[in-house]
Amino acid sequence: MAMVDPVRSGESLFVNGDCVEGVRRFLSDGSVDLVVTDPPYGIDGGRLDRHYNRDESHVVDGYVEVPGTEYAAFSRAWVAEAARVLRPGGALFVVSGYTHLYEILGALRAAPLVEVNHIVWKYPFGVWTSRKFVSSHYHVLYWAKPGGTRTFNLEARYGLAERSAGAGSLNYRDREDVWAIGREYKPGRAKNRNELPLALLEKIVQYTSNEGDLVCDLFLGGGSTARAAIGLNRRFAGFEVSDAIFAARVPELAALVPGERLAALRCPVVAPVPNRGRPWTAEEERALHDAYAQYRRDGLGKGEAVALLCDEFGRGRFAVEKRLKPR
Ligand SMILES: C[S@@+](CC[C@H](N)C(=O)[O-])C[C@H]1O[C@@H](n2cnc3c(N)ncnc32)[C@H](O)[C@@H]1O
Repeated sequence: MAMVDPVRSGESLFVNGDCVEGVRRFLSDGSVDLVVTDPPYGIDGGRLDRHYNRDESHVVDGYVEVPGTEYAAFSRAWVAEAARVLRPGGALFVVSGYTHLYEILGALRAAPLVEVNHIVWKYPFGVWTSRKFVSSHYHVLYWAKPGGTRTFNLEARYGLAERSAGAGSLNYRDREDVWAIGREYKPGRAKNRNELPLALLEKIVQYTSNEGDLVCDLFLGGGSTARAAIGLNRRFAGFEVSDAIFAARVPELAALVPGERLAALRCPVVAPVPNRGRPWTAEEERALHDAYAQYRRDGLGKGEAVALLCDEFGRGRFAVEKRLKPR
C-alpha cells in the first residue's frame, strides 16, 4: 500500500498509515526506548460512547476499528513490530479495555518480551448501571525487552523520604499499581474517541524514559502520548492509519515545543544519599543490626527505626531493609 511522506518536526516523526507497515519502513531494530500505545478496542464500530460514558460532541471522525474476529492476528502483528524496534531493556506499555485483553496478553506472551507490571487505571467515568457493578478501569500492561537495563526513575515524581500524614510514603503510594486518574475536560476542543488523559501518559514517560529517549506510539489518535513525550523533551515517532484523524490532529502535535511541560512538573524532594552504591563492610552491617535492635528495644516501630538508620548510615531505605533481612 502506498504511504504518503511522513510529517517531520524537530526530533518528531508522524506517519499517516498502518502502524505495522509504517514501523517496518521508518524504525530500525533496537532504536526505540519506550513504546506507549492504546490500540483500537475492537468494540463494534462506533459504540464506544455507549460502552464508556462520554460526550461525543467535538469528537474527530475517522476512528478506524478492528473487527473482533481479526483482533488476535492484528495484535500479534503490531506487538511483534514493537518488540523488534525496542532496544534491549526498552519498555512497552499497552492500554487495554477488558474486551480483547486476552488477545493482547496472548500477543505479548508470544513476543520476546517479559512482564513487568499489570497496572489498573481506575477512571471515574463508567456508565451507570443498576443490576451489576460499574465498569471503571482499564488495564495498563507494562512489558519489557530483556537483555539490557530497563529505565525506571525511582524518584521521578516523589523522593523516597517524602511522606504525608495519613498517606505514609508518597513515593510508595505513587508507585502502587492502581492509578486513580480522572478525565481531562476539554470543552469545545477537538478530541479523539478514547483520548487518554495527559496525566496518565506523563506518569509513564517520567518513570520509564529519560530526556532525549525515543518514545513511540503505534496508534496515535489524538496524540496524547506525543503531547507527553514531546512536552517532556523526548524524541517521538507516531503512526495513525486514519487520514481524517491524522489531518485534524497532527498539525498541532507537530507544533509542540519540546520540553514545554517540564516546568509544570512537581519537583521531587530527593534527599542526598551519600553512601548509595558503596559496598557495605562487615563492620557497618554489624553496626546496622545492633542499632536496629536497640531502636526496637526502645519501642520504635520498624518504619521509624529504618528511617533513622537511613540518615545515620547515609543509605537508601531499600538498601537498609535489604541488609536487615535475615540471610
Ligand atoms: C484508541 S485510539 C488511540 C487514542 C490515543 N491514545 C489518544 O489518546 O488520543 C486508537 C487509534 O488507532 C488508530 N488505528 C486503528 N488501526 C490502526 C493501524 N492499523 N495503524 C495505525 N493506527 C490505527 C485509530 O484510527 C485510532 O485513532
